[in-house]
Amino acid sequence: MIVPSSFEGARLKARRIKPDDGVALFEAYAGDPDATRYLPWRTNQRPSETLAFSRLAASRWDAGEEFVFVACLKDTPGEKERIIGSGKIAAFHPLFRNHMEIGFCISPKFWRQGYGTELSSELLRVALEIADVFRVSAWVQPENVACCAVLEKIGMRRECIVKRSQIHPNFSSRPVDMALYAAFRDGEA
Ligand SMILES: CC(C)(COP(=O)(O)OP(=O)(O)OC[C@H]1O[C@@H](n2cnc3c(N)ncnc32)[C@H](O)[C@@H]1OP(=O)(O)O)[C@@H](O)C(=O)NCCC(=O)NCCS
Repeated sequence: MIVPSSFEGARLKARRIKPDDGVALFEAYAGDPDATRYLPWRTNQRPSETLAFSRLAASRWDAGEEFVFVACLKDTPGEKERIIGSGKIAAFHPLFRNHMEIGFCISPKFWRQGYGTELSSELLRVALEIADVFRVSAWVQPENVACCAVLEKIGMRRECIVKRSQIHPNFSSRPVDMALYAAFRDGEA
């Protein structure tokens, strides 16, 4: 599967994750309880936890299993690179490479400025441009109104609620209901 290692929107550029990006991701969102409330892993307590993630994610890209991007501001005079979030594209199932999933997170310092819409719409575009991909899904807790609004805004449509399907440990110790959103190549289906 050929996935581009970078892409750009109007104000953001995204590039393939590197093993040592974890420290910046910890600062941006992984250590923040508000940002991680609806995510399927515990809020990180230390940068070393996020570093373990970035190392694993970099190796998973090499293995063609999952494609994690860090999102950086394009316009940062005087700064080398400012990471404000991340996004991922992953196969829904190793056997069904025509169906991808996307996920994304933006640092709370940058919420409500259109970055979530920009990052997710570019992720959706890139995912639908991968050869043979016809469907892209996104999973979200229905209570996560910001994410639901962003998914609607980029043209994904809610298909159903999948009950008791994922554990989100910062939200509840019991599996939560998830809304399933989808978009299709050429608007099919
Ligand atoms: C979901 C998330 C990416 C949105 O990022 P963002 O940069 O704030 O989104 P945008 O600024 O592009 O917002 C787009 C629209 O979403 C809606 N929205 C965003 N935040 C909202 C909130 N807190 N409450 C209600 N609506 C909200 C608004 O309609 C907004 O449009 P408007 O500002 O023109 O009214 C961000 O809240 C986030 O990273 N959350 C934590 C991680 C997460 O939940 N990821 C999704 C997992 S599927």
